[in-house]
Amino acid sequence: MRLPFVDPTSPPPGPFRRTFWRSPLRGPWLTSVLGCALLVGIPIVAVTGFLSNAAYDPRLGHNSVGRSLGPLDFYLFSFPTHPSWLYAVNQGLHITIGLAVFPILLAKLWSVIPKLFEWPPVRTLAHALERLSLALLVGGALFEFVTGILNIQYAYLFGFFFTTAHYWGAWVFTGAFLSHAAIKLPTMRKALAARRRLAPLREGLSQTRPEPALPGADELIPVNPRAPTMSRRALLGTVGAGSLFLLVQGAGQAIGGPFRALAFLAPRSAHGRGPNGFPINRTAAAAQITAGHVDANWRLRVIAGARTLSLSRAQLLAMPQRTYDLPIACVEGWSTTQRWSGVRVSDLAAAAGLRGDVIARTRSLAINGVFDAAVLSSEQISDERTLVALKVNGTDLSLDHGFPARVIGPAIPGVHCTKWLATLTIERA
Ligand code: HEM
Repeated sequence: MRLPFVDPTSPPPGPFRRTFWRSPLRGPWLTSVLGCALLVGIPIVAVTGFLSNAAYDPRLGHNSVGRSLGPLDFYLFSFPTHPSWLYAVNQGLHITIGLAVFPILLAKLWSVIPKLFEWPPVRTLAHALERLSLALLVGGALFEFVTGILNIQYAYLFGFFFTTAHYWGAWVFTGAFLSHAAIKLPTMRKALAARRRLAPLREGLSQTRPEPALPGADELIPVNPRAPTMSRRALLGTVGAGSLFLLVQGAGQAIGGPFRALAFLAPRSAHGRGPNGFPINRTAAAAQITAGHVDANWRLRVIAGARTLSLSRAQLLAMPQRTYDLPIACVEGWSTTQRWSGVRVSDLAAAAGLRGDVIARTRSLAINGVFDAAVLSSEQISDERTLVALKVNGTDLSLDHGFPARVIGPAIPGVHCTKWLATLTIERA
């Protein structure tokens, strides 16, 4: 298959010529070692990502955050509520391993970059398809990692809704990754076996040489290598150190408590001191909620069909109170466990006349038409630890933590733990 205006025998000057790529470190062994690390890390990131989507229970109304469900939205189960830290661990892993994998991904892309400038760009139809899958793989990877990292740093530089774009990007990347891994696995095994696995790590700078030829996988080995400036051991050590550094940043914010201080690059730290002095995603000020919106006139409306209960905070405090240690698990990967007290959502549903298999639509106070909303599944409501919380660590919630009342429950994504609660609409599941 010959492209018009493309002379396959004479590549244009620059990166399309093999002589352009001169690092002696590139080769199938280095790429395979980095590939091995990605084969461990990326499946963890992908699986925890799709589980995060499942934890939203997108089949329940608003929970799909505006995305209409399609054939790829098949949910095999409702996200469990046991153990209570399940979502915290899932999202903590997603972000932490995602961060740790990023330097390895960049090193892998560096190691194969000559392949991206192959000449001629297309030789046969099969070659064209391979190039297309590489474009989806590299494009998908960069899209997922870059949008993910910008998102957790609250740097919304992209003009689209992160969750939906990241979700669709995940399908493209996961598909391309799986096919790439399947195609490249034999080459990877051959390259590692040819150099006795990790033996090249024993080579210092003075022993560093271009990799020996490996039939069928030579295109990364430079044709006119320059002298090495670092060994493969030093290169992989540097990548490993970067990965470890980012792993600590992610793990520090995911585990929280005394480890939180390790995550000094993470944006969300303790918010003030005392019983309410734990991290916050969105403050009352950011939501434009003031003390005036939550004064003594505030009421929680519990709606069940034609029946509506309008409960003051005092009336809620007069109902049976339950206390549980539960994590707030943010979708951005940080979490913190606190002691919450309040009324079971199932008790409020029963008080409004609905028992058994019910769901609850939550809605916060609306300021200028803007409000938070979510749908709690019947699994979440039937778990007695799902509360309308009024107190935390033995004291009233602060305004920033959702005073007068907020939702809290086990293994529920933080974004569904609606603060500044205004209505709870109970419906049959
Ligand atoms: C450092 C890398 C990454 C970071 C920081 C990151 C960050 C995030 C965040 C913050 C969310 C929660 C979004 C929300 O609920 O609003 C999320 C969800 C998700 N991520 Fe990632 N991500 C990364 C890499 C990846 C990769 C490589 C994949 C795919 C293989 C992936 C797949 C997903 C999926 C499927 C979701 C669920 C989206 C949804 O709920 O609709 N992520 N990610």
